[in-house]
Amino acid sequence: MNIKLYILSWELWKKYGWGRAYQAALRGRPENYKGRSTLTYGETPRAVMEKIKIWSQIAPDQLFLELGSGTGLFSLWLALSTQCKSIGVELVSEFVQNSNAIAKKLSLSAQFVELDIFEYSWSEADLIYLTATCFSDDQIVKIAHKCKEIKKGAKFVILTHQIKVEQLELCEMWVEEFSWGVSTIFLYTKTQ
Ligand SMILES: C[S@@+](CC[C@H](N)C(=O)[O-])C[C@H]1O[C@@H](n2cnc3c(N)ncnc32)[C@H](O)[C@@H]1O
Repeated sequence: MNIKLYILSWELWKKYGWGRAYQAALRGRPENYKGRSTLTYGETPRAVMEKIKIWSQIAPDQLFLELGSGTGLFSLWLALSTQCKSIGVELVSEFVQNSNAIAKKLSLSAQFVELDIFEYSWSEADLIYLTATCFSDDQIVKIAHKCKEIKKGAKFVILTHQIKVEQLELCEMWVEEFSWGVSTIFLYTKTQ
């Protein structure tokens, strides 16, 4: 596992070292999303990923869904460290292609789809992660609507915006430092 972890870090560094992920996110923004701040790129630190992994207790046969997967690090790392299956949904084509290539190279059960997160089904996932810090009020309404399709017992982790949906129970919340500054993490379980 350790050697694969090293290779994963190296592969990502080769593609995105020296802040190149920010440039990839800017140049890869689809035409109809240009000018929208909601596609702003940023990164979740490894320490935060560790905490979410421990909190969620995700098991090897379960599915992690990363909504807006960026470079794919969280999905790839979780598939590697827990043997869960990961799916990353992302609009930036370059991110999706590179993430899939790394998953293939390391034989990880991680797959990346080029799609808007609102067009992908959230119903199969056991753990969902969404960095919603830059999302607009309209998008938060859409997220609340999408949360209704999350299955019973699944866990939903979202940054910055508290979601008030019946059957979505807030279990924990805490504050963390991200690449863009401080954000609150809200951790929910779907009760029905
Ligand atoms: C703040 S970055 C987070 C990247 C990664 N999840 C992490 O935590 O390190 C948000 C990512 O979500 C993507 N994104 C934003 N809105 C999206 C949407 N509606 N559909 C798909 N991807 C989206 C952006 O392109 C960006 O790569």
